[in-house]
Amino acid sequence: PAGRPLAGRHVLVTAGPTHEPIDPVRFIANRSSGRQGFAIADALARLGARVTLVAGPVTLPTPPGVTRIDVESARQMADAVQGALPADAAVMVAAVADWRVEAARQKVKKDGGAAPALTLVENPDILATVATGPDRPALVVGFAAETEHVIDHAIAKRARKRADWIVANDVSSDVFGGKANSVHLVTADGVESWERMAKEDVARGLAQRIADALQARP
Ligand code: C5P
Repeated sequence: PAGRPLAGRHVLVTAGPTHEPIDPVRFIANRSSGRQGFAIADALARLGARVTLVAGPVTLPTPPGVTRIDVESARQMADAVQGALPADAAVMVAAVADWRVEAARQKVKKDGGAAPALTLVENPDILATVATGPDRPALVVGFAAETEHVIDHAIAKRARKRADWIVANDVSSDVFGGKANSVHLVTADGVESWERMAKEDVARGLAQRIADALQARP
């Protein structure tokens, strides 16, 4: 129906940062606010989709009608995403930590000796896993936060991760935690550069494009 073109569709969205524990009281994280991903979940729900939002640690309200699963680490996010499949589309907006720490079971103590060293281990790539897995959604969308060569990196990322679309974010100016975003939509057909606009408007535009793409399929 007009206005609810995603009725009957399930869309999975990831959003926010991940926290990677160092020990039971400490973690490493990144500056993602979750704002863009939450806005996308909201926009998809408004178009009638059943939305599962797998959220890292953020302080944002759950958009109306969205099913939210809260996680902390990348591995928890990966498990929650696998558990939420199948879906018609997946939009992976989360700023997943590339590395986790080989965490200590007990709090690391300052004992007057040398400073402890953190050993980093690569995290699973959730987007690539979903895009190449047996339950692959018909449409897989990734995000790419870059500070330079934004479009070239996004084109390479689209191919490497087997995503259908990459939304390339120019984060050189004030995007993390901010209200606006400048994006380029990279698809098999080429690159579309959108004007700088509010994250809610990026979300609405993207949700409509997702509806159009899914409508073209059975
Ligand atoms: O490689 P990079 O982290 O820049 O890729 C960004 C895209 O990949 C985003 O869509 C992000 O959600 C996704 N990603 C992921 N799992 C990772 C790293 C990134 O799903 N471990």
